[in-house]
Amino acid sequence: DGEVYKYYSEGEWKKSSSGKSVAIINPTTRKTQYRVQACNQEEVNQVMEIAKTAQKSWAKTPLWKRAELLHKAAAILKEHKAPIAECLVKEIAKPAKDAVTEVVRSGDLVSYCAEEGVRLLGEGKFLVSDSFPGNERTKYCLTSKIPLGVILAIPPFNYPVNLAVSKIAPALIAGNSIVLKPPTQGAVSALHMVHCFHLAGFPKGLISCVTGKGSEIGDFLTMHPGVDCISFTGGDTGIAISKKAGMIPLQMELGGKDACIVLEDADLDLVAANIIKGGFSYSGQRCTAVKVVLVMESVADALVEKVNARVAKLTVGAPEDDSDITPVVTESSANFIEGLVMDAKEKGATFCQEYRREGNLIWPLLLDNIRPDMRIAWEEPFGPVLPVIRISSIEEGIHHCNASNFGLQGCVFTKDINKAILISDAMETGTVQINSAPARGPDHFPFQGIKDSGIGSQGVTNSINMMTKVKTTVINLP
Ligand code: G3H
Repeated sequence: DGEVYKYYSEGEWKKSSSGKSVAIINPTTRKTQYRVQACNQEEVNQVMEIAKTAQKSWAKTPLWKRAELLHKAAAILKEHKAPIAECLVKEIAKPAKDAVTEVVRSGDLVSYCAEEGVRLLGEGKFLVSDSFPGNERTKYCLTSKIPLGVILAIPPFNYPVNLAVSKIAPALIAGNSIVLKPPTQGAVSALHMVHCFHLAGFPKGLISCVTGKGSEIGDFLTMHPGVDCISFTGGDTGIAISKKAGMIPLQMELGGKDACIVLEDADLDLVAANIIKGGFSYSGQRCTAVKVVLVMESVADALVEKVNARVAKLTVGAPEDDSDITPVVTESSANFIEGLVMDAKEKGATFCQEYRREGNLIWPLLLDNIRPDMRIAWEEPFGPVLPVIRISSIEEGIHHCNASNFGLQGCVFTKDINKAILISDAMETGTVQINSAPARGPDHFPFQGIKDSGIGSQGVTNSINMMTKVKTTVINLP
């Protein structure tokens, strides 16, 4: 109906003075579904200014009160799960049930942050001076954790609600203010989530949400002198941001090429089930998706057969119907995936299914006999296409995993726990899952990537800690 969703600033919903809007294309219909404000740099300056002011009094708000508001927001978020999930279905083509799960998980994460925060930040340290050589017991040192200031949160399209609250909730409990820049696909879901925080009654200006074009406000936000910390999840943009950002803490979760190493003694039914879940849920559009299978040659035929049997059962279609495989987020994403598939085809990969695409919808595809000269051996499709590399030794698998620029997660399947631990130690990734597909959750577990996969560690506790600084007061005795 031509309505343009307003952005959120000073506790109010506002129209941008730019008079411009950004279209959000429904990945399924490929038609404009929603429109959001194209905020300009002046509006960014305004939210930065008010975020700075609001943070000062928020930091003085008792911790238990901050927690109380977060619990309230969590409950409201869960109450609004249906309409928010509906936006997720329309904006990012997330299957209907997964969309609801994302919102519920987000509510739980916010509550967990509130609980963890009151305990973690409710404690400080007390040190005495005479443990260090040359000192008498004349100095008492008190430590506590103080907020950083204004946190810029930039979540990706694949979890516009969950990966927004995983930044917002730790920031707020720790006494920071938030400026949120949602992804274009997912912006309306994010605005709806912000509305839940609005209803919970947070102070004006503490949370802002600016929408708009990356080309207009992207660099302006990330290089803004008012920003005290950036928490970003997404792709290569994160590397560019880290080069341009000032001397501020960065939390980055970028891409992944999570390997699934399958040993000869593995339970192949368990592996196949996890490859389906890990490789194809949300059509492979997860940074933690299984993105390459490295299977021992002797069990490769049996595994591929089992995976193919399960691929055949995946439903393909609209997210409203809760199909397993739904259209990928944009046409350019579909084109990129197709490029990887065609490259593999030219270089002689075995297609376990026929390649099929209609618009942004790509049918699930397992590509066997992938070799290192094929792009898909290294690049992340972010789509329902999974390469299989047959290996003749564990070392070969570890070598492939470690030769990647990425190092997010990985997994190993074997019944031999000793081997599993040794392989985990050898894999240069932030996390290794033994006998299960990679995944970020449960959300209080540490979550981190090495190399091009990120900076810092997330998970509830780590994020709260990361969004604080240590402050010390030293009492000097006469
Ligand atoms: O896309 C990146 C997410 O952090 C992955 O989260 O493992 O819960 O799907 P997930």
